[in-house]
Amino acid sequence: MLKMKDILDEKDKRLRQISKEVTFPLSKEDLKHIDEMEEYLVNSQIEERAEKYDLRPGMGLSAVQIGVLKRYLVIVHDTEEGFISYIVINPKMTSNSEEMIYVEGGEGCLSINRDIEGIVPRYARVTIEGFDLDGNPIRIRAREELAVAFQHELDHLDGKLFYDRIDPKNPYKNQEKYRAI
Ligand code: NI
Repeated sequence: MLKMKDILDEKDKRLRQISKEVTFPLSKEDLKHIDEMEEYLVNSQIEERAEKYDLRPGMGLSAVQIGVLKRYLVIVHDTEEGFISYIVINPKMTSNSEEMIYVEGGEGCLSINRDIEGIVPRYARVTIEGFDLDGNPIRIRAREELAVAFQHELDHLDGKLFYDRIDPKNPYKNQEKYRAI
């Protein structure tokens, strides 16, 4: 089972590399990584388990964050219907809204263990295309915080961290142009 120590810290240079596309069928190892990433995200969002295993709560993980430079991501969305897991292999954003939003309290990242001020502009709605575990094509339409999560994880696959999108000289630049969520 993954613990906090298994998740790369922002200082780790691997987080700055571009992850590689995956070929099918997925290896047993990759399937295990994906299982563990999902397990971490679920456990981290259940308070008593997060406390028991000392997990920082998170909604998404990209493979690179556990040191695997491959293009896949897992998002576990806590909804009124319960947890919904999204596992996407070789994900791409194929369309996006004009409207942009930002997370008012700031974005979080399991690889970044400090508070960072500023606005991270994201599309309010996106379409993500990619493949499921068996290599079947999938398309996901995401909005609001789920859309932010996908854009955040896609950035990881390209070696970007969310604060790269914050202007260090003016962290609240153009705030009025975007809707807070
Ligand atoms: Ni992150």
